[in-house]
Amino acid sequence: MPARTITRLGHPVLRTAAAPLPVSDIGQPPVQDLVDDMVETMRAAHGVGLAAPQVAEGVQLFVYEVRGEEGTPDPIPLRVVINPMLVPEPGELVYDWEGCLSIPELRGLVPRHPGVRVRGLDRHGQALDYVAWGFEARIIQHEFDHLNGVVYLDRMRGMDSLTYESEFERFFADDDEDEPAGESPAAVG
Ligand code: NI
Repeated sequence: MPARTITRLGHPVLRTAAAPLPVSDIGQPPVQDLVDDMVETMRAAHGVGLAAPQVAEGVQLFVYEVRGEEGTPDPIPLRVVINPMLVPEPGELVYDWEGCLSIPELRGLVPRHPGVRVRGLDRHGQALDYVAWGFEARIIQHEFDHLNGVVYLDRMRGMDSLTYESEFERFFADDDEDEPAGESPAAVG
């Protein structure tokens, strides 16, 4: 499966609402190939998530995965989410670092709901209904936003935390008091 080219900010597809995938299309080769390509592309780019508009496909589909490499949070198994609906779980917004494969080299602090209920379909067209918290909930909200033409910069409360990756690593990567030093990576998807 070839990795696809990741669209970058400025490509109109990143600012366009994605269309739902017809359920009858999900099992067909074009969608299955797209899913496989997106997983490959996400892994090649060392991201934790990828939405279809990031490979220039304006459909409601995203994938995410945390592979548990050194310096990353606990592993999260690969998920493929199609035609999702999100409902926030109650709780105060949580600020943490994000980056985006479509906005290379930058990081910023983004408020997100602490948990979300996800409803949608998996790559086999089977119903999904689950609740995710913390880092996983952050990834899901980031990728869901991509399906609505929204990027994390739009969610930032201000631009003062915007930082380049190298400066993030130098000045902020160990800043999270809740986690041991070196285990506070940005959610990049
Ligand atoms: Ni992104």
